[in-house]
Amino acid sequence: MKDIIANELYQILKEHMTLEEILETIEVPADTSHGDFAFPTFKLAKIIRQAPPKIAENIAEQIDSPIIDEVKVIGGFLNFHLAHAAVAKSMLKEIAKNDFGMSTSLQDETFVIDFSSPNIAKPFSMGHFRATILGDALQKILKQNSAEVIGINHLGDWGTQFGKLIVAYQMWGDEDAVRANPIPELFKLYVRINAEEKDNPTLADKGREAFSKLEQGDTEMHDLWSWFRSVSLVAFGVLYERLNIHFDVIQGEAFYNDALEHVNQLLEEKELLEFDDGAYIVPLEDLPPALIKKRDGSSLYITRDVAAVLYRKQNYNPDHILYVVGHEQSVHFNQLREVIKKMDIDVDIEHVAFGLILKDGRKMSTRRGQVLLLEDIIDEVKQRVLEVMEEKGTAIQDKDQVAETLAIGALKYHDLKPDRNNSYSFNIDDMISFEGDTAVYINYTNARIQSILKKREQVISLDNFIYEESMWPLINHLSTFPSVVEDAAKKYSPSLIARYVMQLCRHFNPYYGNTRIVSSVNVDSQMFLLDLVSKNIVETFRLLGIEVVDAM
Ligand code: ARG
Repeated sequence: MKDIIANELYQILKEHMTLEEILETIEVPADTSHGDFAFPTFKLAKIIRQAPPKIAENIAEQIDSPIIDEVKVIGGFLNFHLAHAAVAKSMLKEIAKNDFGMSTSLQDETFVIDFSSPNIAKPFSMGHFRATILGDALQKILKQNSAEVIGINHLGDWGTQFGKLIVAYQMWGDEDAVRANPIPELFKLYVRINAEEKDNPTLADKGREAFSKLEQGDTEMHDLWSWFRSVSLVAFGVLYERLNIHFDVIQGEAFYNDALEHVNQLLEEKELLEFDDGAYIVPLEDLPPALIKKRDGSSLYITRDVAAVLYRKQNYNPDHILYVVGHEQSVHFNQLREVIKKMDIDVDIEHVAFGLILKDGRKMSTRRGQVLLLEDIIDEVKQRVLEVMEEKGTAIQDKDQVAETLAIGALKYHDLKPDRNNSYSFNIDDMISFEGDTAVYINYTNARIQSILKKREQVISLDNFIYEESMWPLINHLSTFPSVVEDAAKKYSPSLIARYVMQLCRHFNPYYGNTRIVSSVNVDSQMFLLDLVSKNIVETFRLLGIEVVDAM
């Protein structure tokens, strides 16, 4: 509807403002009694040098549209009251379409999303959890805008730490224990060698030696590394399955080992490489230099990232590579962007950064003291959901499965709701509340709608739909969905969709409270609307990677 108002204004203001400027200027008044849209004339007043109220009066006189009931001038504002009954049907016609909320805004663009990317032999951290949930939602939102998307798990499976881990395993490792419980056991070994290294520096040398052998392809080292990697992948796979996360490819850092020499050569050819105290660096303006090759010849995190960009460019030819990684790595990605620019590789490097997950005001860790795994955290949330379900006296059959779905949805929604740039506090009470801004509340709203819909069989067609003014907030909100989907993609911001669906439920509840659906004479039209609301909830949840439950 906003675009229709904008067009109406554009016809009058063509000489002074572009359609985009008008669209940007139009506001939605917080108080709906002030109208559906408002147009402040202050910007325009500066251009044509007239008093804002005068301009507003002038424009108001020229407006004549069947969809506008009334234009009120208040000071320098034009307040538009839409003819709700007249526009509701055309809005519903859009909303009821199968492809409602599909956009072609990114039709010709290809994205690589590098997300999740945990480190093998280590617990999946809360940071990796956030990268996983955000990245997954983002890939769905981009696809919804017709982008081509390749989701890649850039597994942390290479680096000097694996030299240490091999040494630790050879000294203290127990094959059966690792097989039974890979990540905690391997991690314990790693923690132990780091601790003992402080009193026994030869351990550090041994670790370096082992890594250098590994880089040279020593079979024994390689077999151990490969085993650590495969048991870790199995453990991560269980978690991904539980969270319903899928990747197009898993290409970890080790995947690029054979391409590193080529990176060095290219950098040398382009005269970007400098020899600095035995190491090779690429000096950068306003940033620390990118360290490409250490004195001992070993490669680095950034070298493998440069190799990954080259590989992706060649194999997927993306316009954008998005890295869903915490803010802590912003220097790294700034360096990577600069190096790629200097190499004349034409691709947009975008660090889709995010804040921390906090507990008691500190960065939340999955490994403080005892090794606590993300699985344990999910189990705890599930347990709490089950308790609340018991309290509420749920009578459903498959309680366990429903609690699992609700718990995972709660965790994901809690993570996606805040702006990704902000940190948030991890709080189980907050994420499972039936009344708060939670996926549980949204699920509960949807389950209520489903139970109402079950009460009647027949479905009417839009032609027989009878509009009631109480429906306006719902219809109006639904009609904004396509622009929210586009915005969320443009800003890489799933939180816009999370907030949109919350607001939809917030509109539903008073509507439901005030409308005696089922006993109303207009029950068929009301059901028609409820069905659209429920479908939209399911669709928004799908875009966020969250599953709905039918009953709870
Ligand atoms: N494994 C890295 C870490 O845990 C994240 C990798 C992010 N992706 C990348 N291409 N650098 O810190």
